[in-house]
Amino acid sequence: MTQQRIKLNPLGDLVDMAIYVYHQLSDVPLDMKVQQVLDGTHLVNHFDHAPKIIERRPSESGMQIIWSLPPGLDTKDFDSRRLAIEQQTGTIVKIEPGANGAVVVMTLYRSKFPKEIPFNFSPKDYPDMMAPLPIGKDPAGKLIVADLADVYHMLVGGATGYGKTSELFVFVVSLLLAGCKVSAIDKKAIDFPLLEDYIEVAQDEESALKMLKSHLKEKEIRTAQLRAAKVQKIQKLKGQMVYQVLIMDEATGVENEESHAIIQTLVREARAGGIGLIITTQKPSANTWKGFTDVRSNLSGRICFYCNGDANDSQVILGKGNSRGAELPAIPGRCVWKWQTEEVLQSMFLDAETAIKVLEANNVPKRGAGESEIIEQRKNRIPT
Ligand SMILES: Nc1ncnc2c1ncn2[C@@H]1O[C@H](COP(=O)(O)OP(=O)(O)OP(=O)(O)O)[C@@H](O)[C@H]1O
Ligand SMILES: [Mg+2]
Repeated sequence: MTQQRIKLNPLGDLVDMAIYVYHQLSDVPLDMKVQQVLDGTHLVNHFDHAPKIIERRPSESGMQIIWSLPPGLDTKDFDSRRLAIEQQTGTIVKIEPGANGAVVVMTLYRSKFPKEIPFNFSPKDYPDMMAPLPIGKDPAGKLIVADLADVYHMLVGGATGYGKTSELFVFVVSLLLAGCKVSAIDKKAIDFPLLEDYIEVAQDEESALKMLKSHLKEKEIRTAQLRAAKVQKIQKLKGQMVYQVLIMDEATGVENEESHAIIQTLVREARAGGIGLIITTQKPSANTWKGFTDVRSNLSGRICFYCNGDANDSQVILGKGNSRGAELPAIPGRCVWKWQTEEVLQSMFLDAETAIKVLEANNVPKRGAGESEIIEQRKNRIPT
């Protein structure tokens, strides 16, 4: 009887085995992969208790996992593992606190973002919002909309050419469609003057100061009116009071100290008068101008576009220790939106030409030539 010998090819077998294991691992469900990452990074409390999965909801775009937290752990502990989870699962991850603080909701998106999302937004779909801002779409295609009347003021940052001004155009058109009043300071004087038929634009130092002073005055009148109306939430006056928004494209453009002081007062006090500020800058540092750090701390909504992989720039925009903006791919429109939660979105793209077409198609009234309308006319004011 002849014995058949099995020929061994140790190197080849090892390679085959590695490929087999790789394929097996890629079929591992997302929740198990995340569990492996958390086990590997030892996410436990003082008593060695780990978070437990209490629910998993698979969806077309990935999976939502609900974790119960042992005492001593919170959402931040998950946040610090987010990048590792994203890398090991090939997903984009959103982490938010659950309803009662003892639960964390983790959404994993497997799908890819489209490269360009055209502007498509109707404020009518958000009847409770006074100043709706479509920030961008999440990887599942859901449009994330925030009410500036809740956010109060916003900072938009990121390197040159990655979508700040386009996002501002999206905001201007959305706000005008919602019946808000918008004005802008654009000292580069390239982009916003194209919308001058619809919004008042300050293009030089002197008119910027004048515009800021008008907002200051309007803030004082409105604050008194709101106090008299005894409403806590300005949304209650929807239909009676027009929400007013001041946009500043590139904060470093405004140079005089009087303007800086007014901006500081406005971000501190104007929300009580239904006035919101949206400020962009390529690099918001303490050196932007004296007092800018104080201003920045009152800009509670943050949008960070690609920032050249610079962790420091990302932290200046998104907050200390937050380098997520540096992890973004160099794709125009891709951004981190941070307010009550934090997530990666793709903003809608809107240029001036299309913006004007949308405004015309929706019969948004053009502004009268000449006089500034930042100070509301008496007949339009709510009665006190
Ligand atoms: N959401 C978007 N989707 C796809 N492409 C975009 C998007 N936003 C911007 N872009 C592309 O990037 C270009 C630059 O965008 P934008 O002018 O908004 O940049 P920026 O951040 O304002 O730059 P700067 O700091 O120089 O003013 C646009 O002309 C467009 O080609
Ligand atoms: Mg710009």
